[in-house]
Amino acid sequence: MLEELATIEADALIALTPLEDEASLEAFRIEYLGKKGRLTAAAAGMRHLSKEEKPAAGQKLNEVRTAITSALDAKASALQAAADAAAVAGIDVTLPGTPIPTGALHPISQVLDRSIAIFRRLGFALATGPEIEDEFHCFDALNTPEDHPARNEKDTFYFGDGRLLRTHTSSVQVRTMEDQAPPVRIIAPGAAYRRDEIDATHLSQFNQLEGLFIGEDVSLADLKGTLEYFFRAMFGEDTEVRFRPHFFPFTEPSLEIDIKLHAAGKTAKWIEIAGCGMVDPAVLEQVCQSRGDRLYDPEKFTGFAFGMGLERIAMIIYGIPDIRHLIENDTRFLSQFS
Ligand code: PHE
Repeated sequence: MLEELATIEADALIALTPLEDEASLEAFRIEYLGKKGRLTAAAAGMRHLSKEEKPAAGQKLNEVRTAITSALDAKASALQAAADAAAVAGIDVTLPGTPIPTGALHPISQVLDRSIAIFRRLGFALATGPEIEDEFHCFDALNTPEDHPARNEKDTFYFGDGRLLRTHTSSVQVRTMEDQAPPVRIIAPGAAYRRDEIDATHLSQFNQLEGLFIGEDVSLADLKGTLEYFFRAMFGEDTEVRFRPHFFPFTEPSLEIDIKLHAAGKTAKWIEIAGCGMVDPAVLEQVCQSRGDRLYDPEKFTGFAFGMGLERIAMIIYGIPDIRHLIENDTRFLSQFS
C-alpha cells in the first residue's frame, strides 16, 4: 500500500511537469484526484489493511494527496502568470498614459455661474425674456422716449416690422413685472445686441446680467449694499466700489458703478462695471397700465435695478486684453480656463 502510494505520487509529479494548458491540468486532476482517480482507488484499498497497517497508510495517503494538490496548484498559477506576462509583453507599463482631452466651461459661463451663485445667496431668482423684442418692452415701457439716442437706427438692429434685437436685458424687468406679482427679486442674464463697431472692447452681441428688486421700502441703501456685496464676492473682499451719478431713462436716481483695479505694476484705476438706479415710478406706472391693475402702484412699491456686462467682468478677472478672444473659439485661448 505504502509503495503503491509512493508510485502514484512519483507518477503524478512526472506527469505534471510537461503540462502546458488548463485542459490538460484538468485531465490530470481527474486522473489522480478525481472520484474515480488513482488516489481514490488506492484509498478504497485501505479497507483490506489490518488495524495496525491502517494509520501509517492513512497518513501516507494524506501526504500524497497534499503533495499532488499543491504541485497542481503551483503549476496552475505558474501557467496563469506566464499567460499574464504574455498578454502585456511589449507594453511598457512605465510609459506615461495617453491624455484624454477634457472640455471646460467658457470663461463667460464660469463668470455667469459664479454671478448666479452669489445672487442666489441674496435670494435672487433667475428670470428670462426673449432676445427678439418689441419696441414697447425694450424702450417705451422703460420710459425711453421716441427720440432717445438708444433707439437710433444706427445703434439698434431693427427687423423693420416693429421687432428688434434687444439692446439690453432691461426688457426682462418689464416682462417679469407683467407676469408676476410683487415682491420681485430676480436676475436676468442673457444676450444683448448693439450695432457697435467690433474692436478690442466691443462686440455687436454680448452678455448682460440684469437685476430687479421690487418691494415695500426698498431703498438706495439696499441697492448699494447688494451691489457692493456682489462685487466684493466677485473680485475679492477688499475691492473698492464707487457709485457715480448718471442717467438712465428707467431709473431715478441713476448711478454708474466703478471698481478700483490694481493691476500688477500699474497705478490703480477706476473702471466702470455696471449701471443701476432706483426704478423710476414712471416704469411702475406703465406696468400697472399693461397689467390693468394697481399691484405695482408706485405709491406703494419702490425698487432698484442694475445691469452689467459679463464680458467686462470676465476680462477683468482673467486679465483678457481683447474681448474678441471670447468669441474666436481658439483652443489655445480657451484651454487656459479648464
Ligand atoms: N440697461 C442699462 C444698460 O444697458 C443698464 C442698467 C440696467 C441701468 C438697470 C440701470 C438699471 O446700459
